Amino acid sequence: MSLFVKKPLAGLMAEAQDTSSHSLKKTLGAGGLIALGIGAIIGAGLFSITGGAAANQAGPAIIISFMVAALGCAFAGLCYAEFASMIPVAGSAYTYSYATMGEFIAWIIGWDLVLEYAVGAATVSISWSRYLVKFLDYFNIHLSPSITAGPWDGGAINLPAVFIVVCMSLLLIKGTRESATVNAFIVTLKVTVVLIFIFLGWHYIEPANYTPFVPPNTGNFGEFGFSGIIRAAAIVFFAYIGFDAVSTAAQEAKNPKRDMPIGILGSLVICTILYILFAHVMTGVTSYTSFKGQDGIAPVAVAIDHMGTPGANGVITPDYPWLNKAIIIAILAGYSSVILVMLMGQSRVFFSMSKDGLLPPVFSRVHEKFRTPSKSNLLFMVFVSLFAAFVPARVVGEMTSIGTLFAFILVCIGVWVLRVKQPDVPRAFKTPFVPLVPILGVATCLFMMVFLPWDTWLRLFVWLAIGLVIYFGYGAKHSKLRNPGKIDLDLK
Ligand code: ALA
Repeated sequence: MSLFVKKPLAGLMAEAQDTSSHSLKKTLGAGGLIALGIGAIIGAGLFSITGGAAANQAGPAIIISFMVAALGCAFAGLCYAEFASMIPVAGSAYTYSYATMGEFIAWIIGWDLVLEYAVGAATVSISWSRYLVKFLDYFNIHLSPSITAGPWDGGAINLPAVFIVVCMSLLLIKGTRESATVNAFIVTLKVTVVLIFIFLGWHYIEPANYTPFVPPNTGNFGEFGFSGIIRAAAIVFFAYIGFDAVSTAAQEAKNPKRDMPIGILGSLVICTILYILFAHVMTGVTSYTSFKGQDGIAPVAVAIDHMGTPGANGVITPDYPWLNKAIIIAILAGYSSVILVMLMGQSRVFFSMSKDGLLPPVFSRVHEKFRTPSKSNLLFMVFVSLFAAFVPARVVGEMTSIGTLFAFILVCIGVWVLRVKQPDVPRAFKTPFVPLVPILGVATCLFMMVFLPWDTWLRLFVWLAIGLVIYFGYGAKHSKLRNPGKIDLDLK
């Protein structure tokens, strides 16, 4: 049978209706799905990356970079929404590709999604660890750098990053409803802190800080000017990653046809508005040059330190010194929810791949009591912990971005393909202006990918090559679709 054999839509629809004890529990409504999206979206991208991208790439025009990145996500989000409302099964982009472009492409995308979800979770856990160190510093508790950073970042092993990955994995095993409740609480906390920052900071905006709005290019590609704005867009794109994770929970949604588009697009719109306002305040209260050389908490802390009254000597006394501590608490909690949703997305993608026979059955075994893929969660706990403990932050961050952009491109193409090949299948939500929106989605995401460094491209190819070896060594031989006569000994 062909490598490009497609999964029949009818089978997928039946899978979506499955409520047996081997299936995932349906607990999420529209509000829960939006919260799931925001939980995955607002994190290291906003609180850590924005300042650096303004200082080194875009200046105050960082808000244009946010808009460019949002545009790419909006096109992809519209395509995700059509798929998620039409094929509401766990697995998201992987499942959509299986139905539209065939098994081989589906494998590539499923394998690629490990970069977005598992490696993304590792990236955020490394950032989490940095904030924890800063937070403990306030209380005079100083952790040794050897246990708080990986070997390439000046330490030996990043134990706090491992700690948070383990905690979130155990929470996921316990259950989706419990995870959603914790997530809703955290989302409220981090959105509140973002709003406080915007409202308090607005009064301290100094219009002079917006001039020049687009600082002239330094002569180096990607440093200010037009190329700087686009490179900054590719960098802050990381801040939007996560809205698509909503689609991986389709099988746990109570009314997926109506609620999936609301969850995906709703969380994206809310975060886009918050991001643009946040970046506007950040670059308004102080010059973008003040964020130079700052990492971790610094960009936000620098902005808060400028919300104050200048004394006779010109030194500003901050009006809200407590805000820095509050922000760190919200960041620590907020990053946890990003990690939680990423880990959840990852296990759900492998759940679907394993059910299709492309991966060993262990990834689709559901815990009898908790009805979650607990073994899969445990395996990813180990894999993500290893990345978090030893791999440098920059490497995992860029791998996450390139992997996600690639997934978005395939989803955009998939929507278009299915419209042409199966125009009559009912779609609860339809992407407007097909094929224009998918084409623009592909163009914008590809445009951002081109601006990522070449070594990131190399890692993407190496990762995909490893995936091919596993596919031809295992997946192709065990695929249920390609080997229909084979007896499934693993039915439980
Ligand atoms: N969007 C997520 C973050 O910024 C990945 O942390």
